[in-house]
Amino acid sequence: MENNSLKHLAIIMDGNGRYAKNMGKPRFVGHQLGMENVENITLACDELGIKVLTLYAFSTENWARPKEEVAFLMNLPVKFFNKFMPTLMKNNVRVKIMGFLDQLPEKTYQVVQDAMEQTRNNTGLVLNFAFNYGSRKEIVAATQAIAQKVADHELQVSDIDEELLSRNMLTGDLGDLSDPDLLIRTSGEERLSNFLLWQLAYTEFAFTDKLWPEFTKEDLTKIVQDFQKRHRRFGGLDK
Ligand code: FPP
Repeated sequence: MENNSLKHLAIIMDGNGRYAKNMGKPRFVGHQLGMENVENITLACDELGIKVLTLYAFSTENWARPKEEVAFLMNLPVKFFNKFMPTLMKNNVRVKIMGFLDQLPEKTYQVVQDAMEQTRNNTGLVLNFAFNYGSRKEIVAATQAIAQKVADHELQVSDIDEELLSRNMLTGDLGDLSDPDLLIRTSGEERLSNFLLWQLAYTEFAFTDKLWPEFTKEDLTKIVQDFQKRHRRFGGLDK
């Protein structure tokens, strides 16, 4: 019987639009309910002893959606932190937002910076939003940062190794916890959509047909229990 420890969970929260459509409502209603579910699942993760929860909230490709939907999504962090900051503080949650934040509208930028600042000294679960995040862009940025150091003679080419690459990713500050142990994608889609391509090298995957707004603590607990029984070999052989 395996007993894998789940320290870092990543979730692709998919299916908000379909959930709203099934209810006969406009898409933004799905995003609103999806946002509310972030709180439930965050608290559930905390209870399960998870240390880092990384949520894919807005991708660098999501700008291609209709203007009104993009505006609604950009305002979600404002709503989320307004509503849930007291709960996050009470539960000692530290907020991290990773992505290309300088491209965010001013108000969104301020709100996410404030949330990180306010929770900076919290020592519990790290709630890590991937917001305006794209993994290929992240890898390009890491490569550029390293190449610049080589050009400036601060690094030798032979210093470049996996550890250095990991530290230069947007998850680099998570140290030992930068790679997820488990990735969940809701809504029945089975693809990565430019999410954490470097960090997911040895991650276990779980897919569920549940749409994000209807994904419950019970669904999560079941997936986590299944994960704990899996046999992770990291490319090695059985003992
Ligand atoms: C994918 O569903 C979901 C998104 C693009 C947005 C996810 C955002 C949240 C759940 C809220 C995030 C909360 C904060 C605080 C930022 P979709 O719209 O692609 O659904 P569909 O595939 O059914 O159309």
